[in-house]
Amino acid sequence: KKNGKKRIRVYMDGCFDLMHYGHANALRQAKALGDELVVGVVSDEEIIANKGPPVLSMEERLALVSGLKWVDEVITNAPYEITEKFMDTLFNEHNIDYIIHGDDPCLLPDGTDAYALAKKAGRYKQIKRTEGVSSTDIVGRILSYVRVPEVSQDHNGSLCGEPHKESQSKGAHVSQFLPTSRRIVQFSNGKGPAPNARVVYIDGAFDLFHAGHVEILKSARQLGDFLLVGIHTDQIVSEHRGNPHPIMHLHERSLSVLACRYVDEVIIGAPWEVTTDMVPPKYSSFCATFLPVLCSWGSYACIDKTFDRQGNMLTAKLLIDIYLKYALATVFTLNHFK
Ligand code: CTP
Repeated sequence: KKNGKKRIRVYMDGCFDLMHYGHANALRQAKALGDELVVGVVSDEEIIANKGPPVLSMEERLALVSGLKWVDEVITNAPYEITEKFMDTLFNEHNIDYIIHGDDPCLLPDGTDAYALAKKAGRYKQIKRTEGVSSTDIVGRILSYVRVPEVSQDHNGSLCGEPHKESQSKGAHVSQFLPTSRRIVQFSNGKGPAPNARVVYIDGAFDLFHAGHVEILKSARQLGDFLLVGIHTDQIVSEHRGNPHPIMHLHERSLSVLACRYVDEVIIGAPWEVTTDMVPPKYSSFCATFLPVLCSWGSYACIDKTFDRQGNMLTAKLLIDIYLKYALATVFTLNHFK
């Protein structure tokens, strides 16, 4: 209770596989329907039984959801269906007032509504689903770029694979997302750094925002008072990583980064190199020596490794070590930002 008024606690569940700004926007809207947002992350087993296997594991999905700035608490291994028993747990143990879901139908394998009981109990509220993005769409984008072996029959009649034949469907999945200034404002903190704040700058592609990104952003934020993240343009990313990177375009990547609780501000379309004119004069000779090295490392690590789970986490850990070691050089105040 605050000022004698009960705080409204809302619950939203989901798989949050390959978490994207549609999920972030759903949780942002859910949070606005109450004071505290509790998020249930559905277990791997329940997703397999209801939708088929997720790309990311429970731990990875949990790290992504916990990293969102609108999320207050998480419940791990949540069920897919809101059963009578689970509803009791939500109402009595977690003090939940409302259960929330997007306005798209969420059906169980038998065709019934997964939220039917919550609706019947009058404890259900709905938010608007975000158009133009879904986990299925992202998987589609990735698969449309994968080089698949073309299977053909040789003259002896046996099947032979011809590897590295580009998929025919390349380009079939184009982002449907239309960025608006309102959406960017909704995701923003709207506050600049305090007068003597230490502004930390980190740049990268942040493509297919994953648990490793959350970890590195957390570490970067701990080095100062205000975290500014530079997101490279699509052109810069594809120049350095080659086509088809990035999978998510600049505005999609920017919203994912902006939704992270450790991020204060983003530069939408940052230069590849951090130039000395971005830092105060007293650091400039030091930065002239170290920045090119740091930038190449930073950019290397932030252009992510998509689906190699172990690799993702390892890369992020390695990068954190590098950043911590060279913390001095990465913690500087950006001139143009003051
Ligand atoms: N959601 C949304 N907008 C999207 C995608 C999801 O508002 N573009 C909402 C869903 O309505 C749900 C929550 O995010 O309330 C979690 O969704 P999830 O269980 O992960 O699965 P889907 O609804 O199938 O979303 P996706 O296809 O992206 O996996």
